[in-house]
Amino acid sequence: MDRVLVIDFGGQYNQLVARRVRECNVYCEIYSYRTALDVVREMKPKGIILTGGPNSCYEAGAPTCSKELFEFGIPVLGLCYGAQLMQQVLGGRVERASVQEYGRTEIETDGNSPLFTGVPAKTVCWMSHFDYISRMAEGFTSVAHSKDCPVAACQDLSRNLFGIQFHPEVLHTPEGTKMIYNFVRNVCGCDGSWRMDAFVEKTIGELREKIGSGRVLLGLSGGVDSSVAAGLLARAIGKQLTCVFVDHGLLRKNEGDEVEAVFGKNGSFDLNFVRVNAQHRFYVKLAGVTDPETKRKIIGEEFIRVFEEEAKKIGAVDFLAQGTIYPDVVESGLGGESAVIKSHHNVGGLPSYVQFKEIVEPLRYLFKDEVRKAGLELGIPEKLVMRQPFPGPGLGIRIIGDITEDKIRIVQDSDYIFREEVDKALSEYKKMTGEVASWKPDQYYAALTNVRSVGVMGDERTYDYAVALRAVRTTDFMTADSARIPYEVLDTVMNRIIKEVRGVNRVFYDLTSKPPGTIEYE
Ligand code: XMP
Repeated sequence: MDRVLVIDFGGQYNQLVARRVRECNVYCEIYSYRTALDVVREMKPKGIILTGGPNSCYEAGAPTCSKELFEFGIPVLGLCYGAQLMQQVLGGRVERASVQEYGRTEIETDGNSPLFTGVPAKTVCWMSHFDYISRMAEGFTSVAHSKDCPVAACQDLSRNLFGIQFHPEVLHTPEGTKMIYNFVRNVCGCDGSWRMDAFVEKTIGELREKIGSGRVLLGLSGGVDSSVAAGLLARAIGKQLTCVFVDHGLLRKNEGDEVEAVFGKNGSFDLNFVRVNAQHRFYVKLAGVTDPETKRKIIGEEFIRVFEEEAKKIGAVDFLAQGTIYPDVVESGLGGESAVIKSHHNVGGLPSYVQFKEIVEPLRYLFKDEVRKAGLELGIPEKLVMRQPFPGPGLGIRIIGDITEDKIRIVQDSDYIFREEVDKALSEYKKMTGEVASWKPDQYYAALTNVRSVGVMGDERTYDYAVALRAVRTTDFMTADSARIPYEVLDTVMNRIIKEVRGVNRVFYDLTSKPPGTIEYE
């Protein structure tokens, strides 16, 4: 399979570069700039992309690369810092710019670059730089400029070397994906065979080969990643796989049964599925506990205990499977800039309480949207594959204060109603307009405040709980804004919760952004 190597110089958009390349159906991986040249050569990439980075390439100690990288005969595209570094290493000059460009900037291309095939001569791009290329290395010509930047893009066609001063990988550069496509598909000649159906088939073959007749244990949470990992392994090795699903009683309404319906005895996969109904144990341990951190700790530790007990019953296995995905690998420093060379070790540390020989991580090279596509390919229901993120401690951190079974019922039922109405409104909007509603939240749920207040229902005075609705829009879950859900939708949700959920007499909508609020309550 054709592959492109993304060499990471520490810029903030580097995972985005890799995702854009994959959107062009070309497989790529991110490696640190410190990776040895031999490793790069052995990978036989059809193209190399040098990313942006926070440094100035003329500073002492700044990240650099060897001149040889440009002598492999492999096409290289430098982006921002990567473009400047390429010039500096090859004999050009980079200096601090008197006018520093930041933000949306118009550039004009001169029509002579394969990078800009199909791109209008005048186009907008996202600039973010202090330095500029004041003199190009020998052999290079400028193929785009902006008002303040004479070399917004340059190339040496005889060596297939290209540099772009702006960031084609961000959405603020509307033609950016086309430029990346032009590079990886046209210049590098990658065939575009990276597709999820092919990935699924290939991975199933590889898993069979690696696992042989061995036994595999997987902890299934019901989340997207572990579910897709289970689906892949089940298709590959069937009954050699045992999935342990711990139901801690803090899942969303019906969630435990939904997971069992897909992976259990009557589901669509032929594997050993163990559902541990550990609800009671968790409730006992959590009784009367109000401190958020203590609650998290209890849930985490009890989870390990339960898993450990089940693992002991199963006995030693050959492989422990995990649903690690590529952003976990890159962020842990194993794939990207902070790694010296690529490591094949596990990301999160290995659990000592399970006896196994080796680890398998079938999703290790996939981004989240690719995991979802693979899940659909495997026939896992869309409802499960498209699930919004759900925290490990579950409803335990969406019930402020102590946890009781009655509070769990309240939060499960309210949350179910809220999600049902939001989903209904979203699909009606889509049906009417053909578009995704601009207010579509990325995560939305109901939580139980620990507040009780006086109300009146019928002729009676009530003293019941207040439910909080939380819905946020976010791209990275690090910052978020509250979603502008139409008032009528909120109104319907409020009415239904009051009518259908015993013990609730008020409903709040949480307007807080992150920061200062977090997405979860505890
Ligand atoms: P916060 O509350 O920190 O949440 O703004 C950011 C994102 O992380 C999820 N989250 C968790 N996920 N275990 C998880 O697996 C946890 O303990 C946890 N806490 C928060 C949260 O749902 C949101 O998507």
